[in-house]
Amino acid sequence: MTSSASGSPPPFLPYGRQDIDQADIDAVTAVLRGDWLTQGPAVEAFERALCERTGAAHAVACANGTAALHLATLALGLGPGDAMVVPAVTFLATANAARYVGAEVAFADVDPDTGLMGPEQAAAALERATRAGWRVRALAPVHFAGQTADMAGLGALAGRHGLAVIEDACHAIGSLDLAPDGRALPVGGGAFGTLTAFSFHPVKTIAAGEGGAVTTNDGDLAARLRRFRNHGMERDPAGFEDREAAVDEHGSANPWYYEMAEPGFNYRLTDLQSALALSQLTRLDAFVERRRRLMDLYAERLAPLAPLVRPAARVPWCRPAWHLCAARIDFAAAGRTRARVMADLRAQGIGTQVHYIPVHRQPYWRRRYGDLALPGADAHYARTLSLPLFPAMADADVDRVTAALAAALGLPAPA
Ligand SMILES: Cc1ncc(COP(=O)(O)O)c(C=O)c1O
Repeated sequence: MTSSASGSPPPFLPYGRQDIDQADIDAVTAVLRGDWLTQGPAVEAFERALCERTGAAHAVACANGTAALHLATLALGLGPGDAMVVPAVTFLATANAARYVGAEVAFADVDPDTGLMGPEQAAAALERATRAGWRVRALAPVHFAGQTADMAGLGALAGRHGLAVIEDACHAIGSLDLAPDGRALPVGGGAFGTLTAFSFHPVKTIAAGEGGAVTTNDGDLAARLRRFRNHGMERDPAGFEDREAAVDEHGSANPWYYEMAEPGFNYRLTDLQSALALSQLTRLDAFVERRRRLMDLYAERLAPLAPLVRPAARVPWCRPAWHLCAARIDFAAAGRTRARVMADLRAQGIGTQVHYIPVHRQPYWRRRYGDLALPGADAHYARTLSLPLFPAMADADVDRVTAALAAALGLPAPA
């Protein structure tokens, strides 16, 4: 490991990490001193702030991004015989959200340079699923690394086929879709999606410890999300089926009464987590700006390593809040395996990660659907390596990473 001027090894750079300041700590300790630890006023305050930030009419906070995606498939009423189109390049959770409710997954290919599912790939998956006899009900585009999928194109496809759209925006809080008329539309505002799922895991752009949320402009879906988040429990008398049990002999509402029409889950977020998430949300602009600056620096510093190394291709329809720096590396041409490059970087105190093993390659899905040919996803997987990206990184850390990467690939150090 190289040494710093003081002789001590430079600090380890993980591929991503949270940024917690005193205000974040104060926000959480204030909750600890108050009356509510579980879902309470901080959850409501966070949900209101998320609505303001995204422009959505409703935000439903929940335990994590996986729960957010599951709540979305529950709220839409997906079930056996139904299918959801999911890009093969994503985290396991996107596809699992369909299986949790008994629906099938129509895996779609992606662009090998961006990792994003486009309308053509989604349409091909839709056609395959329809041929298989599945009733496709939803598209689940994933905004990989913080860049949005082509939502205008995917929204049009969904409109033509009467599909709901669940945006997996677990990477993309703070990203903006650029509409053809020049407007910048915050992800989660529902300009294209029926429901948008977010994650606030510590490697994401804002951290709640564990945390998630779903935004929507549909009041009925929001009510269903809230019910499924809390065991399926209904407390609003307007929603009661058993009127007789709900009221006393004078027709007054029984104060203890609740009903469950469908089983739900305990997917609640705590006030502790919401206080942290709310405090972090006030810092989102600064985080996004710093991440953009670091990505611009990476683009400069990686340029001399082309064509063996390239930064992720940028799409024109989005102003991303970069979550990952997913570089594209031709390991075969460099004559180095990815495992060796990762080990060499780790020896230099640099953490990297692979996003993602294409989900259709997982044994569970292979047993279920056989070997699907999705060459874009395979090509993306062959070359992807996520380099460190988090707001507390110094500009000099980018130099350190790119120099170590060049050495690991047997290339001269970038000037
Ligand atoms: C694209 C994507 N979807 C869903 C999830 C699940 O989020 P969580 O870890 O908060 O459950 C993640 C997080 O890793 C993700 O990256």
